[in-house]
Amino acid sequence: MNRSNQGFIKTGVIGFPISHSLSPVIHNHWIEKYGLSGSYEALNIPPKDLETDLQRLIREGFKGFNLTVPHKELVIPLCDDIDDTARIIGAVNTLWVEDERLKGTNTDKYGFIENLKAKAPGMSCKDGPAVVLGAGGAARAVIRGLLDEGAPEIRLINRTAERAEKLAEDFREPCLTTALWSEKNAALADAALLVNTTTLGMRGQPPLDISLDRLPANAPVCDIVYNPLETKLLGKAKARGHITVDGLGMLLHQARPAFERWYGVLPEIDEDLIIKVKEALR
Ligand code: ATR
Repeated sequence: MNRSNQGFIKTGVIGFPISHSLSPVIHNHWIEKYGLSGSYEALNIPPKDLETDLQRLIREGFKGFNLTVPHKELVIPLCDDIDDTARIIGAVNTLWVEDERLKGTNTDKYGFIENLKAKAPGMSCKDGPAVVLGAGGAARAVIRGLLDEGAPEIRLINRTAERAEKLAEDFREPCLTTALWSEKNAALADAALLVNTTTLGMRGQPPLDISLDRLPANAPVCDIVYNPLETKLLGKAKARGHITVDGLGMLLHQARPAFERWYGVLPEIDEDLIIKVKEALR
């Protein structure tokens, strides 16, 4: 790294497109709050330019990056090292340069678990079976987190059954079972947690069509969708008295260890930040 740049730490998020990313709002809020010298930029880079642009940005003094769609998997072969969390999730969302090597991790697992603990403090993942809807990268992060927290059983349900089976095969955990999409209502019987990781319910997408009738009243309901903040799923769960956990909290929490990696401070999520992010979502 260029030593003359060491005082001022340049970071950014790489995506294509990138204009809707909330990450610049989050990280620049923390840079300002903690009085740090640095900047966090939105970097619009098409997949074909990822390798050359990454090298150029590092030469220009960038110390770290977040990655978003469509780069989270594409960046893996460009890293010198990725950690076990990124490996099992199969996606990297955070990069940093250390000893001239490009290193990658995935902070979505941390973001999901920390947000769950903050919003549903009375629950433990050990309490009983968790039902996870979806089998994409987000589901992999959620499932890794639930397993690490000691979930005794995870019922994985995805529209495309083969994708759920592939995920279960990759994880090789006996407590991770799959069920068909048509079985999702029945799978809620005796569950201790429901998590939606699909894109259903997101603005512009159809809602998630599920009956919560069989879900025990003390089971929290999580949606990783954050736009809108209250999805139809969360509205329905709230009306039935379930604790609800929205996706915005996961987004904010996953940003914390990335910021710490680059700036040496594990930042707090304060009210001003939540207001700014909600404003940006409008
Ligand atoms: P991410 O990496 O963010 O999890 P993804 O890999 O695109 O995103 O995964 C999106 C998830 O939403 C998948 O589980 C997808 O189901 P399929 O594997 O069957 O595609 C799910 N999904 C998207 N649209 C859906 C729909 N209309 N009905 C049911 N599931 C849907």
